[in-house]
Amino acid sequence: MMKKILIYNWKMAPGSLKEAASLFKRTQIYADKTRTNAEIVIAPPFVYLPLFADLGGPKRGFTRIKIAAQNVFGGVGSAYTGEISPKMLKNLGVEYVIIGHSERRKYLNETDEMINGKVLAALKAGLKVVLCIGEPKRELRIKNYELRMKIAKNYIRKQLTKDLKGIHNSLIVAYEPVWAIGAGKPCYPKDAAEMIKFIKRFLSVKYQASSVKVLYGGSVDSKNIKNFVKYPEIDGVLVGGASFKKDEVEKIIMSGEKL
Ligand code: PGA
Repeated sequence: MMKKILIYNWKMAPGSLKEAASLFKRTQIYADKTRTNAEIVIAPPFVYLPLFADLGGPKRGFTRIKIAAQNVFGGVGSAYTGEISPKMLKNLGVEYVIIGHSERRKYLNETDEMINGKVLAALKAGLKVVLCIGEPKRELRIKNYELRMKIAKNYIRKQLTKDLKGIHNSLIVAYEPVWAIGAGKPCYPKDAAEMIKFIKRFLSVKYQASSVKVLYGGSVDSKNIKNFVKYPEIDGVLVGGASFKKDEVEKIIMSGEKL
């Protein structure tokens, strides 16, 4: 059985280095204690990445937690004030990078072309890419399941085609319907499983991508995580808001015991 992946996206939290260290330690305690076979990955804000390496990140081998960045620069050269290159991440011991999160697409105007450049650059540097995709609107008025899924699948097909132009490497995709992110109400697990099956089929035919793992993300918490990971086609989850809430940290990891 393939190892499931649990990614914690801390977004822009917490507000200080001290809090980040304590949240990391807390997560680390449970991650190292749990008997889960799952890969546990934390994606903190950039400024806390060096701290993770110091606190016993993968570089030191003290913990099983792997580190991800939430974004990366996708161009060539070094005269880009404020940007972080894939090489800088790699040299710090960062293993994964999240690319194309809907918050960056929506609020920071990241285009599919920019995302494609980032995926290419990150893969070239040897980082493991977690590409986030998802349709923006739930077709609420459409009660018909087939029609609802058809519209969403068309959107996803186009997004994947643009984001993965010229790419055949293996990577991780996070299916995150935009309307479910931060909404407190996730997508129906059955719909997520169906969409993930579709994504895997599409990638294997179009790109001959041999080993693509596809995760679900969007309002996952300690209560609903099991409804997603029980599907064999769902290779794990990307948890946002719940991953930096103190009382959820332990529960989510422990619920992963069955993964
Ligand atoms: P959420 O965020 O779990 O708060 O909905 C998901 C994400 O960061 O993609």
